Parts: sequence; structure tokens; C-alpha cells
Amino acid sequence: MSEAKERPRTAGEMLARAREFLAKKDVPDARLEAELLVAHALGLDRLHLCLALDRPIDDTELARGREFLVRRSKREPTAYILGAREFYGRRFAVSAAVLIPRPETELVVDHARAFAHALATPPKVGDFGTGSGCLATTLALELAGASVWAVDVSPAALAVARANAERLGANVTFLEGDAPSALGAAAGGKLDVLVSNPPYVGRDERDALAAEVRDHEPELALFAPEGDPDHWLRRLVGDARELVAPGGALFVELGHRQSAAALALSRAAGLDARVHPDLARIPRVLEARVPRG
Ligand SMILES: C[S@@+](CC[C@H](N)C(=O)[O-])C[C@H]1O[C@@H](n2cnc3c(N)ncnc32)[C@H](O)[C@@H]1O
Repeated sequence: MSEAKERPRTAGEMLARAREFLAKKDVPDARLEAELLVAHALGLDRLHLCLALDRPIDDTELARGREFLVRRSKREPTAYILGAREFYGRRFAVSAAVLIPRPETELVVDHARAFAHALATPPKVGDFGTGSGCLATTLALELAGASVWAVDVSPAALAVARANAERLGANVTFLEGDAPSALGAAAGGKLDVLVSNPPYVGRDERDALAAEVRDHEPELALFAPEGDPDHWLRRLVGDARELVAPGGALFVELGHRQSAAALALSRAAGLDARVHPDLARIPRVLEARVPRG
């Protein structure tokens, strides 16, 4: 917000100034983003902001709003500034230690949930690379009686995940570990459902990422090891028969270049595989079932 102009006196004036500032800084969806950030600065939600445009603002609120807008103009994602993002209809706290949950990841829940509902008994579920805990927590809440384990290599991410599960009332066992096998050891037997949204971005794709992602989300959550986008796909499919019981299934979120490899690797491992598209018709979720017998 420009210093030369008179200080905004009301929420409506602050909002108008915020829109103008973000648009000038080429922030996409400046109108929506301004509403979210100004509402957050005033301790309101968007609806109540729109109903309170004549509300006077004090200096503390103005300073907080300015801080949020400057951070956003430097391409910090709105979810980190707000400290939260919605996933599958629930609010997950996020910090710079975790990937911001994406709408396409909700498809992993859709398919894992539909599969698990058709099982005869409450499932044992594992989540590799849990981040904010969005997959593990959502499945624990959506699948009555499920036992859920979740692994991440990052202690800072696990702290966020644990707090989310606790606040949302989900019973999930979180573990620090650096490989899918940590889930098998913790569950003390085979899982019925293994889900993962592993890091799958190649180093060669770095420059094509939005600044919000490239400069703010954790590298550990984005980039596949050894410059190989299929690294975790290969590991998860390769470990599936060891980790998942006959009649169970693996669900893995895929990057846009992974669907052919996902099907080829799964079939070579003797799994019954298919890939589900997302709403943009991009092949997005591998479902690989472990045959019975
Ligand atoms: C793409 S993020 C997914 C986070 C969350 N599941 C989601 O869908 O929003 C991948 C996660 O894998 C974790 N990770 C990376 N390497 C790992 C490893 N070797 N072992 C366990 N977790 C790992 C990262 O810390 C990160 O939280």
C-alpha cells in the first residue's frame, strides 16, 4: 500500500488498497487474494469482511495487513501467510516445513476411500511422505475403525502433521523414517491400503515451477532423489508385495510424465494396475492392487 496516499480508515478502503497493490505486483487473482489477506489481518473470514466494509481499522490491523501484502508480493504462498489450507473439507495447518496440500491429492483419498469401503474389515492404512498429514488424517477420519500409520523423514513436518491429526480428532501413529519399509515395521504386518504423494518433480523442471513453489515450499517435499522423478514410484511399487496384503492396494499420486512408467512398473511387479485421471484429464493416481493368492 502506498505511503503517499492517506491512511485507509475502513476495512473497505484497506481492501481496495490491497487489491490495487497486489495487482500492481502482478499477483494472480489479486481480488481474491486481497480479500483473504485483509480478512486474516482483521481476524475475520472473507464473508464477514464483505459484510463489514465500513468497519474502522486500527494501526495494529493496518500494520499486520501491510506485512501480509508485502510477503505475498514476494511470492510467499497465501496458505503459508494464513497458516492453513483446506483439504477434503477440513482445515489443515501448514508451515514452510510442509507442502501445501493440493486439490489433486484429494483424488488419492477418493480412490483409496472407495477401495477401503469395499473391504470386509476396517483397513490398516499406511501413508509414506505424510507432510502436513493431510492424507493420513483424512483417511483416519473417513474410514471408521481404520488403523493408520504415517511416515516422514522431516521432524518439522511430523510436528505439523501430529498437531493437525490431534486438532481434527484423528487417530494416526506418526513415525520418523526415510523409506516405505518403516510403515511395515510399525504396523507389525501387512497393510490393506498404502497411499503416497511422494516427491516427484525432476530437477530439470525447477525453472518451470511458479516462484511460490520453487522459492517457498520445502525442496525435500518437491524434488525426487537422484534427479529421478520415478525414484519413489519404483520403490513403492517394488515394495508393494512386501508391504501390502493380498487383496490390498497401493495408491500413488503421479507427476504429469509418470503414468506409462507407473503402469509398466506395476505390471512387471505382478500388480493389477490402472491410472485415474484428474479433473484436467491428466493421469494422476496409480491404483495398483495386490492379487489374492
Ligand atoms: C510431496 S510431499 C507430500 C506431503 C503430503 N502427503 C501431501 O500430499 O500434501 C512429500 C513428503 O515426503 C517427505 N519425504 C521426502 N523424502 C522422504 C524420505 N526419504 N522418507 C520419508 N519421507 C520423505 C517430505 O518431507 C514431504 O513431506
